[in-house]
Amino acid sequence: MSILSELDSVKKELQEVLKEVSIVPIEWKDGKLRWIDVTSLPWEERYVESSDIYRVAEAIKRLEIRGAPAIGVTTALAVAMVAYNSPNNKDEMMKNIEKAVEILSHTRPTAYNLFWALNIMKKTFYESIDLSPQEIKEKLLSKALKIQIEDIKNNLKMGEIGEKLIQDGDTILTHCNTGSLATAGHGTALGVIKTAWKNGKKIKVIATETRPLLQGARLTAWELKKEGIPFKLITDNMVGIVMMKEMVHKVFVGADRILRTGHVINKIGTYGIAVLASYHKIPFYAVAPTSTFDLTTSPEDVIIENRDESEVTTVLNKLRIAPEGTSAYNFAFDMTPPELVSGIVTEKGIVEKDYESNIKKLFE
Ligand code: MRU
Repeated sequence: MSILSELDSVKKELQEVLKEVSIVPIEWKDGKLRWIDVTSLPWEERYVESSDIYRVAEAIKRLEIRGAPAIGVTTALAVAMVAYNSPNNKDEMMKNIEKAVEILSHTRPTAYNLFWALNIMKKTFYESIDLSPQEIKEKLLSKALKIQIEDIKNNLKMGEIGEKLIQDGDTILTHCNTGSLATAGHGTALGVIKTAWKNGKKIKVIATETRPLLQGARLTAWELKKEGIPFKLITDNMVGIVMMKEMVHKVFVGADRILRTGHVINKIGTYGIAVLASYHKIPFYAVAPTSTFDLTTSPEDVIIENRDESEVTTVLNKLRIAPEGTSAYNFAFDMTPPELVSGIVTEKGIVEKDYESNIKKLFE
């Protein structure tokens, strides 16, 4: 198959796969990226278009685009975009791609999918170096669109695999936002919840608001409302009481990075939820595609993103809630040790304890 006809067939496949999802957060638009700026939700559904790599990097940094899989897909499309808009000169194109990789790699340090996607795009570029500049552009775009397709397909698969863990009548507690807005579509943990609901299970959801940036209150509640799934919102410090009152049957969360040891790095607060779930003997599941698995970094070497303290001392930078000059910690993620994790749902199946050897098998 020629590279151009491969690209055409990937574009057709993408159109088919997109029919399976209700929200498309990121799209390729003839040399530009178009994304829903999730910082404007739930007040406004605002879309942004740009072909500027600095603008895309800014969107990732300021969480207009967020959630590990969504960051990975955007990164791949952004590298393809830079190549596509480069002159038909290989040296220029290489310079532009290397610069884009550098810029993107400094946006968010914890989400593994970012680095996973950058490595795939770099490899695709260098493997295509003997092709014509036009063919390299088509090859990179094909690859990025395939990453987008694969993410949606994986989410739908994880939905079907993970929903088997849910019983009719269950109340599921979830944290942060792991739905369509955090992926290329459907979602990871929220994807499992959506699939269970679509398959007719009468479930309820408890969503944590997820301070400081309120991804649960703003985004998960927005998605659940759109889907018609019954839910209650709680503040993060209510997790203990709802578990104590036996109002939670299972916990499903996403992941920004999963280590070969089974450590789950996810939105700040996940570790506390896992400790409480363990104390109350409530199963705690992580849901993530294999693109989130980092098989080389050790737990002590994981970089936990530290964000600006103003996110903690204000509400969404709109209202100051601490005396002027107050300093704050703002760890964006934490790490849940494997002993607190009941299972990890992936597109290849559910990984159970003992994680070290079962994760190894997953990649064999
Ligand atoms: O800081 P964010 O909003 O990018 O954090 C997102 C999360 O922690 C999600 O739980 C994780 O990326 C999994 S998303 C499918």
